[in-house]
Parts: sequence; structure tokens; C-alpha cells
Amino acid sequence: MFSGLKFFIKKQLFRFRSEITTEELVLRGLKVGKNFKRQEKTIIDQWHCWLIEIGDYVTLAPRCHILAHDASTADTLGFTRIGTVKIGNNVFVGAGTIILPGVCIGNNVVIGAGSVVSKDIPDNSLAVGTPAKVVCDLDSYLHKKSEELLHSPVFGTAYTLKYGINSQQKQTMQNALKDCRFGYIRDYKTPADTKYFSKIESVKMYE
Ligand SMILES: CC(C)(COP(=O)(O)OP(=O)(O)OC[C@H]1O[C@@H](n2cnc3c(N)ncnc32)[C@H](O)[C@@H]1OP(=O)(O)O)[C@@H](O)C(=O)NCCC(=O)NCCS
Repeated sequence: MFSGLKFFIKKQLFRFRSEITTEELVLRGLKVGKNFKRQEKTIIDQWHCWLIEIGDYVTLAPRCHILAHDASTADTLGFTRIGTVKIGNNVFVGAGTIILPGVCIGNNVVIGAGSVVSKDIPDNSLAVGTPAKVVCDLDSYLHKKSEELLHSPVFGTAYTLKYGINSQQKQTMQNALKDCRFGYIRDYKTPADTKYFSKIESVKMYE
């Protein structure tokens, strides 16, 4: 009963934003694995969504666009080109990325913000740009970032809107980031990966 109401409200909200919920897309044939995070204003081709397959643990950051059709020939040739899109497991797609029809993104991949993915991206890689190109393997990127984390200001979940960050904590955060610019914030859902954090206990956090 409650989940039905929740689904109805979500559907109306998405309609209001001219979007379609993931649940409706799945009813039309979209395939999505577990723990899918589709952030705001992300568009998944509603007209050909059964050609799109998304694996487990995939995040699509805000304003991404996954396309499974290309109507650039519709008014001239009278045919629209269509293409399958496959996104593997453990994939993060940065904000504003466009994924074109016919593309396959492998497992364990990060795509940088604002990329246009026009060709396949192999497993275990970080790709950025227009067109998106692999710049390094994902393990090297995560090792680099875990080293950076050990030497950066790190904040606990209390420093988030979700957990009611207050003005004093905002000030603390601003001061801590004044010189180094970058820091990290603890994700409340994900356990730290011991593969990268053998020294996790040495991470000092603002609590
Ligand atoms: C791609 C990304 C993961 C790389 O992170 P990083 O390794 O820390 O990046 P750096 O700042 O060290 O940059 C490395 C190089 O890549 C370039 N670069 C970084 N992000 C880029 C992007 N999105 N597109 C194109 N080039 C990018 C930098 O300019 C730099 O180039 P240089 O070597 O010529 O100086 C990150 O920049 C990104 O885009 N993250 C996604 C952010 C996002 O979408 N947030 C949404 C909220 S969830």
C-alpha cells in the first residue's frame, strides 16, 4: 500500500519534470541490475529502452543521457538508426555525460563528467572527454585517490545535509579546504574497500 503510494508520487513527480521513472522504463523492457543510482535529470531513452542494459552498482550522475536511437536520418532517409547500449557492473558515469547508441561500457569503469561516449570502453578503466578516451586503468586511479585521501581533510557523515550539517561544521569544512581545496567525505552507505585502505585506521576524520 505504502510502496504503491510512493511509486504513484514518484511517477507524478517525474511526469512533472517530463521524465519517466526507472520502474516504468523497466516495464517497457529496460534491464537494470541491483543498486542502480539514477541521479536527477538523467534521461534514459524512453522510446527504445529495451535496447539498454545496465549492470549492478551503476551510478548515473545528474543530467546524463543514454541514447539508443539516432533520428538524424529520419527526415531524409525515412529511417532512424537504433543501437544497443550495455553498461557493465560497478560503473560511475560523471555528470552531463552522453552515451551514444551502439556503445558497450565494461565492468569497473569511471567516465569523467561531461564526456561523450561514442566507442566501447574496456573493463577496469577511467575514460574522459569528447569523444571519451581511456586515460588510465581504474586500479591506478583508485590507488592514487586513496593515497590522496590519506593526506587530505576527511569529514564524517555528520558533515552532510542528510545528517543536518550545521553552520559551525560548514565553517570548519571551509577552513579545512582553504589551502588544499580538495578533501573527502565519508559515504554513509559504502564500507571502505580494504583493497585500497590497508591504512584505513590512520584516516583522521572530522566527526
Ligand atoms: C574524471 C575524474 C574522475 C578524474 O579525476 P582526477 O584524476 O582527480 O582528475 P584530475 O583533476 O587529477 O585531472 C587529471 C587530468 O584529467 C583532466 N580531466 C579531469 N576530469 C576531466 C573530465 N571530466 N573531462 C576531461 N578531462 C578531465 C584534467 O584536466 C587533467 O588534465 P591534465 O593531465 O592535462 O592536467 C573527475 O575529474 C570527474 O570528472 N569526476 C566526476 C565528477 C562528477 O560527475 N560528479 C557528479 C556528482 S556525483
